[in-house]
Amino acid sequence: MKIELFYPYVPKSVVGAIKKTLSTKWIGQGPKVLEFENLWEEKISFSHKAIAVGSGTNALHLAYILAGIREGDEVIAPIFTYPATNIPLLYQKAKIVFADIKKDSLNIDPSDIRRKITSRTKAIVVVHYGGVPCDMDEIQAIADEYHIPIIEDAAYAIGATYKGKNIGSLSDFTCFSFQAVKMITTGAGGMLTIKNPKIVSWAKKLRLFGMEKTSKLEDRWAKDITEVGYRYEMTDIAATMGIEALKKFSSTLKHYQDLAKIYSEELKNIPSIQYIGGDSLCVILVEKREDLEQKLAIHGIESSQVDYRNDRYSIFGGRVENCPNMDMLEKKYLVLPMHHHLQKKDIQYICQVIKK
Ligand SMILES: Cc1ncc(COP(=O)(O)O)c(C=O)c1O
Repeated sequence: MKIELFYPYVPKSVVGAIKKTLSTKWIGQGPKVLEFENLWEEKISFSHKAIAVGSGTNALHLAYILAGIREGDEVIAPIFTYPATNIPLLYQKAKIVFADIKKDSLNIDPSDIRRKITSRTKAIVVVHYGGVPCDMDEIQAIADEYHIPIIEDAAYAIGATYKGKNIGSLSDFTCFSFQAVKMITTGAGGMLTIKNPKIVSWAKKLRLFGMEKTSKLEDRWAKDITEVGYRYEMTDIAATMGIEALKKFSSTLKHYQDLAKIYSEELKNIPSIQYIGGDSLCVILVEKREDLEQKLAIHGIESSQVDYRNDRYSIFGGRVENCPNMDMLEKKYLVLPMHHHLQKKDIQYICQVIKK
């Protein structure tokens, strides 16, 4: 028996839909991308405009540019996340100020944002780790006070809500990933949602070299390019996958939520374990992490830390000494299997092994 940590999920209907897309003249960015964006607005981001891109990292980079982050600007960012959250800040040559996590979760601590914010802070970046939403009211209050934007990394938070509102429909910018093992995958892909409709056409230009995409190719190339943009667009092949997955998303999400509920109930009364969540990743805190990892492996169950504190990577300038909660929790957190192919009995089995 082998229970994998992650496993990609692609709905069966994708195969037929891709076949159709491949028989049209649009396989790069075309009408399917627009359809995916419209569906995203209808189901996830509502009045926030959706812009499909080639990856979650593309979405983050575009958000940082649109938020006005430039060389030397201070940006408060999460110390604990997949490094793709923070690396595009280095593209912008920003000065990253790592904020600590909370004592009992891996999400950013609003009180540490407050401690570290200055008049030079240009933006606040947060990640909803594993799909557990950050304290958005507190963080929004700080952002409002300093008149700066929030950028949410929602790579793990498709379908997550905060106080009944969808992640993606809250702050200035939200960035989703459709990388291979996310709840919705397009192989590689991402979605940026934007609150301010006035900057949507700017975002679309940045997505394609700085060019205005018109239906007539010759017009597009004839026009001036006034700002350096990127090749960050999504293809219609990827969008086709995204559309099919999004149509089925309510049942996909329900399945993840059912699995998460079993974890939360089964693990809550074990004294040496603290269940953190969420729906995308099952994160726990455990005193003897290595022992547990080994025992799980003996029983054919994969587990891993998955992500690490980012100041371990030299590119971010070396280990910081002002994140005590991170210091405390870095030896304790562990991620347990969570993906669409798992059944309730698999989670019950994992919990049984942990209890033993
Ligand atoms: C938290 C987080 N942020 C950003 C990313 C980057 O997304 P992508 O791989 O689509 O570029 C990922 C993805 O894997 C992620 O897990």
